[in-house]
Amino acid sequence: MKLTSLKLNNFRNHAKTEIELNPEINLISGLNGQGKTNLCEAVVFLSKASSPRTHQTSDLILAGQNSANIQASLAKKEGIVNFNFNINKEGDNEYFVNGNKITKMSELAGNLATIYFSPQELKIVTGGPQERRDFIDNDISMISGAYVNLLNRYEKVLFQRNKLLKFEKDIAKIIDTIGVWDIELAKTASRIIKIRKSFIKKLLPFAQVYLKELSENKEELNITYIGQPGEETEEIYNHLIKALEENLERDMELGYTLIGPHRDDIKFELNQTDARSFSSQGQARSITLALKLAEMKIITEELGEPPIMVFDDVFSELDTKRQKKLYDCVLGTQSIFTGTTFKFKPTTEFSQFKIVSGAVKEKKVKNT
Ligand SMILES: Nc1ncnc2c1ncn2[C@@H]1O[C@H](COP(=O)(O)OP(=O)(O)OP(=O)(O)O)[C@@H](O)[C@H]1O
Ligand SMILES: [Mg+2]
Repeated sequence: MKLTSLKLNNFRNHAKTEIELNPEINLISGLNGQGKTNLCEAVVFLSKASSPRTHQTSDLILAGQNSANIQASLAKKEGIVNFNFNINKEGDNEYFVNGNKITKMSELAGNLATIYFSPQELKIVTGGPQERRDFIDNDISMISGAYVNLLNRYEKVLFQRNKLLKFEKDIAKIIDTIGVWDIELAKTASRIIKIRKSFIKKLLPFAQVYLKELSENKEELNITYIGQPGEETEEIYNHLIKALEENLERDMELGYTLIGPHRDDIKFELNQTDARSFSSQGQARSITLALKLAEMKIITEELGEPPIMVFDDVFSELDTKRQKKLYDCVLGTQSIFTGTTFKFKPTTEFSQFKIVSGAVKEKKVKNT
């Protein structure tokens, strides 16, 4: 899929930005604080109606304005998809895809898939478990509306179970009624865990290849899901039901559920050593990039066409050899790279834009 045009109105510091994107590589340059990340954020926002930088969509509106608007045209195998997103200070946001109003976020899945890399994404490797759960959930959500629904369902059931644990003072009553929630919880949870495990299984071989390519070393990456054991849903379900029962006393003491996909983790290992605790900054960066490129492969397989790759400020941390490698890795995929300068330009087709104070000032196109 390729974004052909992008129009921003009052989005962050972009009062009015209109760009025609190159179907291959797009280089967005500009000094610090000019609006490069803001532009990346707009592209990512179109894919999931949420920002990688803020949970408060009102932050996205240009200061002093009441609403922001993003419009874009996406060329896909099956035709053009038009996006029109209104972000409102007061009242609900309105998201239209081909003129149809999106009522459930699961309806967005499968439309526009973006993979976003920024230096902050290193937290996937170095941050807490929540970062890794978000990473995997975001990826799967991009290709499966059913998974989005499962996550929503899980959250609701978990909320009910926690409510019972926290507010019911009569222990006998908890023991009497919690079984119903346990069954519901384990049903949804086991499906979520099964999907996450299958995703990791697919991701790993690609990530291993990309890591070797980017880091030019023989480091062996391994990824393990840390949660209930079992490969099939039924097996995971049985383990989970048992674990919930065994932990009930502790859950009652704490007033919330300690076991389930909301507490699971993903372990990245380099040569059998936990990457979270032991990897260097450079290694964490290479793992993160390898994961993002592996995601690109999986999404391409699932959707039948590549997602859009958004690399915000990736080059400030990569030597020219790796920059070239990265251009090679995304060949044939539409990609957006931002940076203050581009010392090393692609040898293939690309467009270059310059942003000054939220306005696109300059454009160069190189066709090969
Ligand atoms: N809602 C908003 N209204 C107006 N301006 C905003 C809003 N949100 C952010 N900005 C401004 O946007 C600018 C930052 O833009 P952005 O993060 O895209 O910069 P950048 O070009 O990526 O810079 P860097 O190279 O430092 O990463 C800041 O000046 C900030 O004040
Ligand atoms: Mg930036």
